[in-house]
Amino acid sequence: MNGGVVVLASGTGSLFQAILDSEIGPMVCCLVTDVPDCGAVEIARSAGIPVQTVTLTGRLSRDDWNRDLVTAVARWNPALIVSAGFMRILGPLFVDAFPNRIINSHPALLPEFPGAHAVRDALKAGVTRTGCTIHFVDHGVDTGPIIVQESVEIEPHDTEAELHERIKAVERVLLPATIKQLLQSN
Ligand code: GRF
Repeated sequence: MNGGVVVLASGTGSLFQAILDSEIGPMVCCLVTDVPDCGAVEIARSAGIPVQTVTLTGRLSRDDWNRDLVTAVARWNPALIVSAGFMRILGPLFVDAFPNRIINSHPALLPEFPGAHAVRDALKAGVTRTGCTIHFVDHGVDTGPIIVQESVEIEPHDTEAELHERIKAVERVLLPATIKQLLQSN
């Protein structure tokens, strides 16, 4: 076991950057992405972190993609796999390959507002408070055991982008701190 951290990301990568900039940055051994030209890939390249790209397009099946994802991650034998803005649902094939080793950061107070549009859904629902959740990944969509949550107030005229940015500011602190704790308790 190399005890490192594999990060999964497919977006701008600001959470990935926050992990790299934190105390546990040196533990990150690889970025795995499904989007070859996303911001997270640029961040990895500048930081000299290996990138493995496993795209979904052109595949026979999701199982096929999940199998390749398992291969890409397993070669690092990581202590922890961190989904930090990875926008695909991880299938049972992947989840079962790494029991209790996959965590996800989600921009809402689960079980409220699971899914890909959590910030928009919170605004639409008219709640006054949302936040972020770090949880273990299970077979459901954002349903796994919750590790930690932090709330964020919704301001009266918040746009989705403004609110999401304030949530991400919290995630950028909470996610590296949670990874550190989990690695220490391993
Ligand atoms: C975060 O809000 C994360 O919870 C969600 O996607 C966002 C990733 O942001 N799943 P970034 O690409 O790291 O800036």
